[in-house]
Amino acid sequence: MYPTQTQPPINEATRLAQQDAALNPRFYTTDFDELDRLDISALRPQWDAIIAEFRSDPNLDHFKRNAEFEQDFSTWDPELRQAFVDFLISSVTAEFSGCILYAEIKRRVKNPDVRELFGLMSRDEGRHAGFINHTLADFNVRVDLSFLTKAKKYTYFKPKYIYYATYLSEKIGYARYITIYRQLEAHPEFRFHPIFKWFENWCQDEFRHGEAFAILMRSNPHLLRGVNKYWIRFFLLAVFATMYVRDHLRQGFFQRLGLQVDDFDRRVIALTNEISQQVFPDTIDTANPKFWALLEQMYRNTVALNENAGRSRLTALRLQAANALCFLRLYFLPVKSKPLPADCRLEPVW
Ligand SMILES: [Fe+2]
Ligand SMILES: [Fe+2]
Repeated sequence: MYPTQTQPPINEATRLAQQDAALNPRFYTTDFDELDRLDISALRPQWDAIIAEFRSDPNLDHFKRNAEFEQDFSTWDPELRQAFVDFLISSVTAEFSGCILYAEIKRRVKNPDVRELFGLMSRDEGRHAGFINHTLADFNVRVDLSFLTKAKKYTYFKPKYIYYATYLSEKIGYARYITIYRQLEAHPEFRFHPIFKWFENWCQDEFRHGEAFAILMRSNPHLLRGVNKYWIRFFLLAVFATMYVRDHLRQGFFQRLGLQVDDFDRRVIALTNEISQQVFPDTIDTANPKFWALLEQMYRNTVALNENAGRSRLTALRLQAANALCFLRLYFLPVKSKPLPADCRLEPVW
């Protein structure tokens, strides 16, 4: 799209963050009346405890830059710069997606419990997005967030899909940040930027966000029963397959952190899946080699699709069908089942 007189030119970073490709984070809207009907009274003590933790704001002073950020980044090799900037842009888009979704829910709902939780989570995500954005500015990359709120396409999602998807994205966010943090703690020679030192406290925010969703779902157990179990399986697989393919498409970034992308993804997916057993009655059997083989096949199909871009339409259709078939086969692999306790109590597994 070419800029018109009334439309300022879109810089490259905003253009990247704006892409609506299927594998990019999206911006969501939902049915706010249904959110109002959520009732957390079944797990009130656990809810009050986590809200108290949010209110105490343990990371209030965490996202402050120190002298380590005052470096000359222009000396970086262009490949590392590009890999890091791409990582920051996809992270800031994800953080900002959370921030605006949570803020919108807070603005639109009347239920005081839901209102408060989403306000507090939006506070955290806004802080995370701002911190990343500051780092992008060090690399002369500007993401125009106000522009994104206006021009980004919003996807409608039923509330329950939001609970499943955001619970998983919070937990997978936790697992990614902590895995990178632990790697660099053991191998500081790979810590090429100070922002990675901030990941430990940062991922505690993400973990807490996931816990709040877990309590919310457990106190409304209809969300975890019957046909909803099939939706949960779908979201688990969609989140895992998306991450696997995206990460494998940018292996260079992980190599710079001293990580093999395959090993990283296996650890992060297995950890997220394990944590999600605290709330989901069915989870993925990550010990099944077929699960990993199908994810790998989806990645290979995606590489072939990218190589074919702008060429054969028939090849593209064949590869898209092959990926759909992989996903279907993933879906029908045996799952790990754990029945919900009768009182829906949430036992922390972590
Ligand atoms: Fe966040
Ligand atoms: Fe979060």
